[in-house]
Amino acid sequence: MPRGHIMPLPQHVRLVEVGPRDGLQNEKQPISVADKVRLVDDLTAAGLEYIEVGSFVSPKWVPQMAGSAEVFAQIQQKPGVTYAALTPNLQGFEAAMLAGVQEVAVFAAASEAFSQKNINCSIAESLQRFVPLMDAAREQGVRVRGYVSCVLGCPYEGEVPAQQVAHVANQLFDMGCYEISLGDTIGTGTAGKTRALFETVGRDIPRDKLAGHFHDTYGQALANIYASLLEGIHVFDSSVAGLGGCPYAKGASGNVASEDVLYLLDGLGIHTGIELEALIQAGERICSVLGRDNGSRVARAWRSA
Ligand code: HMG
Ligand code: MG
Repeated sequence: MPRGHIMPLPQHVRLVEVGPRDGLQNEKQPISVADKVRLVDDLTAAGLEYIEVGSFVSPKWVPQMAGSAEVFAQIQQKPGVTYAALTPNLQGFEAAMLAGVQEVAVFAAASEAFSQKNINCSIAESLQRFVPLMDAAREQGVRVRGYVSCVLGCPYEGEVPAQQVAHVANQLFDMGCYEISLGDTIGTGTAGKTRALFETVGRDIPRDKLAGHFHDTYGQALANIYASLLEGIHVFDSSVAGLGGCPYAKGASGNVASEDVLYLLDGLGIHTGIELEALIQAGERICSVLGRDNGSRVARAWRSA
């Protein structure tokens, strides 16, 4: 497809709510299981169809996610909603299965340095580690989503060539991940680079199997989402109240706020099934628990209106 070609806007977009995982994983203060459960239940009530609830990673690496099994045990699961968890290896996958998790996600990086810092191994080793996990998931009929981090820049290596992202994404896809989410972990991407990235990765992977995961560090996430829509991407990860950051990417801010993405999509007449006011209230509640201001511009405007 020639650069500059604009795809028609979709009628429906799926938002993957990553607030309870990506949003909370970086919080240093203790957050009770009850507060995490309440957040997930509030998000379910707001109409999210996909919620990443937690992760089964080493508690030494990410202590905040240590209670994920308890969170899964206590949330009210609504039929039709997917409640997923991040799993870095077979050990994490098995723990997730014991906790009754329906769907998991694996995560690799497009940059070697970030792979080492985040999961303590090379990109190739991480992909090797996923093989037994993918085999177990296939046997048990569990769907696996794949993330690629640092797709528009790395905190340690700087520029990351789109071809390198495509190489990692293709391997995850070939391994059996049903969808590949491209993560701008440090939020340095711009709309032009976002389009070029999806154009490159979309040569081998169908666009309806790709998703965008934008952190908002440079305030470009909404522009990048709009650019992605023009490239035919219809799934976006976002975090209520713009919570979060990555523990292994210094200075990375939270994901784009779900409320702000919803406002954008509502304005374009794109259906998501999510109710804005309920979502704003879910964000307001968790922000008061954390004692911090709401990172969603829409929520702040709504509050002062
Ligand atoms: P390692 O130290 O190399 O692992 O860590 P190991 O296999 O040598 O095991 C060391 C210890 O960890 C052992 O315990 C294992 O049992 C334990 P010990 O014998 O010392 O007591 N262990 C585990 N414990 C619980 N659950 C597990 C598990 N695996 C091993 N699954 C490892 C390697 C991958 C485990 C570690 O580096 C890790 O957990 N990293 C997680 C990092 C992380 O969660 N980062 C944030 C998520 S990624 C992200 O935010 C980006 C994303 O949002 C997209 C984007 O924005 O780009 C997805
Ligand atoms: Mg992230």
